[in-house]
Amino acid sequence: MADAASDKAEAGKSSALLEVGGSDAPAAGRPRTLVATERVGKYFPVRGGFLSRNQKLLRAVDGVSIRVRRGETVGLVGESGCGKSTLGRLILRLVEPTFGRVVYDGKDIVPLSAADLRPLRRKMQIIFQDPYSSLNPRMTVRDIVGEAIQIHKLAKTKNDEEEMVASLLRKVGLRPDVMGRYPHEFSGGQRQRIGIARALAVQPEFIVCDEPISALDVSIQAQIVNLLMDLQDELGVAFLFISHDLRVVRHISQRVAVMYLGKLVEQGTTEQLYAAPLHPYTRALLGAVPTPDPEKKRLRIVVPGDAPSAIDPPPGCPFHPRCARALKGTCDKEMPPFAELTPGTGHKVACWNPHTE
Ligand SMILES: Nc1ncnc2c1ncn2[C@@H]1O[C@H](COP(=O)(O)OP(=O)(O)O)[C@@H](O)[C@H]1O
Ligand SMILES: [Mg+2]
Repeated sequence: MADAASDKAEAGKSSALLEVGGSDAPAAGRPRTLVATERVGKYFPVRGGFLSRNQKLLRAVDGVSIRVRRGETVGLVGESGCGKSTLGRLILRLVEPTFGRVVYDGKDIVPLSAADLRPLRRKMQIIFQDPYSSLNPRMTVRDIVGEAIQIHKLAKTKNDEEEMVASLLRKVGLRPDVMGRYPHEFSGGQRQRIGIARALAVQPEFIVCDEPISALDVSIQAQIVNLLMDLQDELGVAFLFISHDLRVVRHISQRVAVMYLGKLVEQGTTEQLYAAPLHPYTRALLGAVPTPDPEKKRLRIVVPGDAPSAIDPPPGCPFHPRCARALKGTCDKEMPPFAELTPGTGHKVACWNPHTE
């Protein structure tokens, strides 16, 4: 089903594409890579501690290679603070990488100047976690959605622009006559629909959805996920769908990547990952019971034990201090490679003692 949707999306595109990293090029007929990172990293300089003069480095993203094909949804999951948003922002070049490459449509975009990046900005959009703070409270819905249309000069006349905004609002399930209203007049789910309309206004090929539903009531979450899936079918847009909840990404993603302390620890098709999770951390995420967060009406995923710091990551596998399967002398000494357990499956894991039963 997923591939059928992506193929349909691909059929609508005529531009010739370069495949990135030829060694694991997709099988003939599969949609090509739209965006990929190659061992990309972001280290933030931070102060060592109170009154400390030493600058330390926080390894927010540490050598991640990930790819998203045209029309595809890749889920990116991991606990809070593991580097998901930073990775999403690196791809969009909202954050400058410390090292590594970001390749969009066959082209390394890291060396591009702001001016050269401008046409690409239109193709890549972001939908934020918090629909309360991501919309300017002093702008009407019309202006919020119309702003990017103006910046990129996509409408010939004011009337055209108005028509475009109306059509976008219909697309996301809002009545066009809400155009003159302000964000505070809407519910959380409706605001997120406005955020989605704003992202779609420039007809992007790729959208980073950064926890787009985790600030919403559980009852609204499914509606927004379904809306995103419908829009993908219709428009062929590709998503990097970021979430801390593996259960949520299951329905929307064709492939899933699991991140821990700045690194990918497992990656595979949705079927592979849910039918046979290999990494103990993936299992922990799947088994974690969502606990109600009393202050906000939402659920939090809690994996036992605290995530170590990305400033002084533990030696060996970064998950070993929390891992019941850790092998003394191995997991605490050496970083496991991120590789396929069974060659040819595409199901990768970074673990010395993966679940194989
Ligand atoms: N601008 C920044 N300066 C310093 N540290 C940052 C900055 N942005 C993010 N971080 C740190 O990088 C790590 C990853 O953050 P983030 O990408 O937001 O994680 P996630 O989205 O998975 O919750 C965290 O430890 C966070 O505190
Ligand atoms: Mg985040």
